[in-house]
Formats: sequence, C-alpha cells, structure tokens
Amino acid sequence: MVSRTRLASSMNLSKAPGRDSSSGASRFEGNNIEAMNDDSQTSPASENKAFSPILWQRDHLRLLDQTLLPHEEVWLECRAPEDVARAIRRLAVRGAPAIGVAAAYGLVLGVTSLPPGKDLGEHFAEVIELLGSTRPTAVNLRWALDQGQRVFEASIDEGSQGVAAALRHWAGQLHSQDVAANRRIGAYGEPLFSAGDRVITHCNTGALATAGYGTALGVIRAAWEAKKVKMVWVDETRPLLQGARLTTWELQRHGIPFQLVTDSSAGSILARGLADRVVVGADRIAANGDTANKIGTYPLAVLAHRHQVPFYVAAPLSTIDLQTISGSDIPIEEREPAEVTRVFGTRIAPAEAGAANFAFDVTPAELITAIITDVGVLLPPYTETIEQAFARYEAR
Ligand code: MRU
Repeated sequence: MVSRTRLASSMNLSKAPGRDSSSGASRFEGNNIEAMNDDSQTSPASENKAFSPILWQRDHLRLLDQTLLPHEEVWLECRAPEDVARAIRRLAVRGAPAIGVAAAYGLVLGVTSLPPGKDLGEHFAEVIELLGSTRPTAVNLRWALDQGQRVFEASIDEGSQGVAAALRHWAGQLHSQDVAANRRIGAYGEPLFSAGDRVITHCNTGALATAGYGTALGVIRAAWEAKKVKMVWVDETRPLLQGARLTTWELQRHGIPFQLVTDSSAGSILARGLADRVVVGADRIAANGDTANKIGTYPLAVLAHRHQVPFYVAAPLSTIDLQTISGSDIPIEEREPAEVTRVFGTRIAPAEAGAANFAFDVTPAELITAIITDVGVLLPPYTETIEQAFARYEAR
C-alpha cells in the first residue's frame, strides 16, 4: 500500500523547516541529491535546486508524486514492489532514467517484503515480471532489472538479508551514477550552444524525469549557466502535460526564462526564425540511432529539419539499446483513451468518442543532428558512433 504524506503546497511554502502540527508529518521533505539517503531532507523540492524525485529512506522508498505537480508536493511512501509498480504505471514517477532507478529500489522492496515461507528465487522472478510489465518503451527499466537480476544471482548464497543489502547498495549506486551521468551530458552538450540561443524542448527531461539534474533539460541548464540560453520554448505535451506542469516548474526554480506553447506551435515558431535549437530526451535509442521519445517528438524533428535548425537528443548510454536494431523494433506504449478524451478528469470529447493514445513516437536517426550522451557527443553515422561509444565505456 502507498501511504501518502501531504507536505507543503509548492504554492504556499513557508521558509523555516518545522513540523506540521496538524498532521504530525514533516512539512519540509524535499531532498538533497548530494546526500540522498535517510535524513537528508533539507528543503521542499520546489526550493531545492539539487533535488531528486526519488529518495530511499531507511527501509522504504519515497517518490515525489508528479501527477500532482505543480500545485502540490506529495511524497508517496512505497514499502512493497506493488507500490512502485503502481507509481510507475500511473506516472507518479516517470521519465526513462527515473523509472529505471525507481524499479531498482522496487527490487530491494521485493526482497525485504518477502512473504513468510515463500521461495526467494520464485518471489524475485515475480517481482521482476511485475516491475518489467509497467512501461514497455523506456528501456532503462529493462536495463535496471537485468542488472538487478545479476546482483541477485551474485548474492543469493548470502540469504535474503545479504541479497537485500547487495541490492540496496547497487540501487544507491545506480541512483548517484545517473545524476553524475546527467551532469556529464550537460557538460558535453553545453559547447554546442551559442550565446542568445532560443531552445525548443518537449515533455519533461529534467531532475523530475531522472535521478536528478536532467538530460535534455540538464543540457539546457548547463548552457544557461554558461550564459548561452536566452529563453526556452516549452511544448505543453498533451495529453498529460509534462511540459506545462513539470518543465515549467523546473525552469521557474532555476530562473530560466521560458514561454509555454501548445504542441502545435513549433512549426510557426521555427518558420518565423524564433528558435535556434531543439533538444529532447529519449526513452529508447536503437542501435542505429532511431529514437523513441514522447509523442510529438517526431513531428518536431521533421519541422527542425525543414527549417535547418539543429535537433539534439540527450540521453545516457543506459537509454541506448543495442538489442533493438532500429526504430521499428521499439515497442510503443499505448495508454488509456481516457487520458485523451479527458483533461484532469473533465470530459472534453463526447461520451463514447474513441481515442488512440500513443505515448511515444520514433524519430529516424537521419533527422537527429547529434546524440548527446554521458560519454560524449555522437554524430552520424550512429550505427558506428554508438558502437564506438559503448566500446569506450567498457574500456574505462
Ligand atoms: O511518459 P513519460 O512522461 O515517462 O515520458 C517521458 C519522456 O518521453 C522523456 O522525454 C524521456 O523519458 C526522457 S527523460 C530524461
């Protein structure tokens, strides 16, 4: 079961840390990625620039519920893998890297919540199956579960306590490695920008979508800090409005100027010469560079190509799947039609109206100017440069 702790509303935060006398719950439970365990709450996420939406606390996982942002900061308490699976499915935690890290902690909970008398190996296989079935496109999920399986196998002789300790250690490493990878992506991406750049981005790829800092939004942050970004065009990202709700929230916190636009504005913005670069994230990059990302990314790439504006994909190597040969092999998640026919529960289409809800689309490699990774900037031909990047990574 997920127990929900209502904390301070991001619209109504007071400055001094303290206890909420009405509920007994801490009102200031943002977290600090520099010390992301246990008693690291220093300020609300809305005030903490180095926050992570994922926090392991002694014996359970806390996830910032992104379905409620930007109006409320609510941390979900997950004590069983079912809680984590539910949070991933309903997008309380979302973004490919964040899903991978949350699932890693879900494996820890799988072992610590082992039902009495149940075989550990059988139970662990069920937990892997449960978490793996939540979202099909984001490959970081499969990547994390495969690694977790190997940690499990290497520690099984130490019994359930030994396995839990090994998984906990590994999940913590994954968590901090993702933040470090994002910072490297930012550092590699920043030199691609020029002073005064106006940038289009799609969906949310910031600290919320990762273990912290962000991929495409991390690149924008790094370029902003280098005084190169003038402003950001934020696609609202229908149907769940990750751009309108989450990217704006993050950009506001960083003081980066932005304009929120409807998804269909990009063509006009590019045709009028109002954008210099497009930067997006990825849920899965195939071995040939074809990239699955939030629905609407592909038309954005076509438009950028038409207007000769560079189109960058920013993602860690954990998002590149060498087993997926090309974009046509990437499974595309289809979600509930109600996410399209309704906006926050209010029906906008006639009753009985059918709707298709493709969560992602695939941008062919030929439309991608560069892929900014945690080991460097990859240029076409991607089949070769991706292979070289993995070789470099493995040789480290
Ligand atoms: O459905 P979501 O919100 O999980 O989709 C997220 C995206 O498409 C992101 O662009 C992608 O996961 C990269 S996040 C760093």
